[in-house]
Amino acid sequence: MGDEELTPGDSRSRTFIIRQFSSVPLITIQPRALCYHSGVPRGKFITFEGLDGCGKSTQLNRLADVLRAEGFDVITAREPGTTPIGEQIRGIILNSRTHNLAPRAELALMFAARAQLVREVIEPALNAGKFVLVDRYTDSSETYQGGGRELGTDTVLQVHRAIAVLNPDLTILMDSDVSASVARARRRNQQTTAKGGAEADENRFERESYKFFERVHQAYLKIAAREPERVYMVDARRDPDTVHWEIVNEVRKRILVNSVPQ
Ligand code: TYD
Repeated sequence: MGDEELTPGDSRSRTFIIRQFSSVPLITIQPRALCYHSGVPRGKFITFEGLDGCGKSTQLNRLADVLRAEGFDVITAREPGTTPIGEQIRGIILNSRTHNLAPRAELALMFAARAQLVREVIEPALNAGKFVLVDRYTDSSETYQGGGRELGTDTVLQVHRAIAVLNPDLTILMDSDVSASVARARRRNQQTTAKGGAEADENRFERESYKFFERVHQAYLKIAAREPERVYMVDARRDPDTVHWEIVNEVRKRILVNSVPQ
């Protein structure tokens, strides 16, 4: 068997072999099958979701490393933020000095940052055939603003359809305990207080109550049950290596194998 590296945007029709990782089965894919849009292979959009402190950013970066090692072009982003405009919006939303932000204003700001990210980063990257890995997306609005702030799922999904529009190909939901998130929040708050309150701290959400995060958690579980074809829930309470290989395995099964042409 020829063991040939994949190259980004490769449009040839030969079958390539993806290197085998530990217990991960060997998979053959055809790069040109990553999908077609006006003759250009379209990339794949993967989001990571979960409660604060569940380890999503670490897992996102580890998956990005694996995909890059396979020869794919990968870009990563976080929400709210990434674009210059999005980072300014992030400053308003997350800073604990932002008082009295109405839940609907918070929702609108999340989607303003998201619309900018979609336009400036995600769409161009997908059109160029890249993998786009994003730390939080609309599910975060559905769970935090819809669930936590009790605006409801329908309101959030209506805004999503009008403003963000784009849906992920796959969402990795890292399931963790509410108590772990609350404990982490408490630690971060204590650190900030000990420093006399940082000028640009990002603790506004972390000051929320246990009940708030419990509603967020329940909303995540509902999304996972509603959309199993898009959302893969992984138990993030285990050691990071185990979680990592489970995610890699799932990405191979759902994204790479499904890309094989008829
Ligand atoms: P961040 O420090 O990036 O937290 P994490 O590392 O847990 O992702 O802060 C992002 C916070 O913003 C987080 O508490 C979740 C919240 N958030 C929403 O409430 N709605 C949203 O749509 C998004 C994207 C984030």
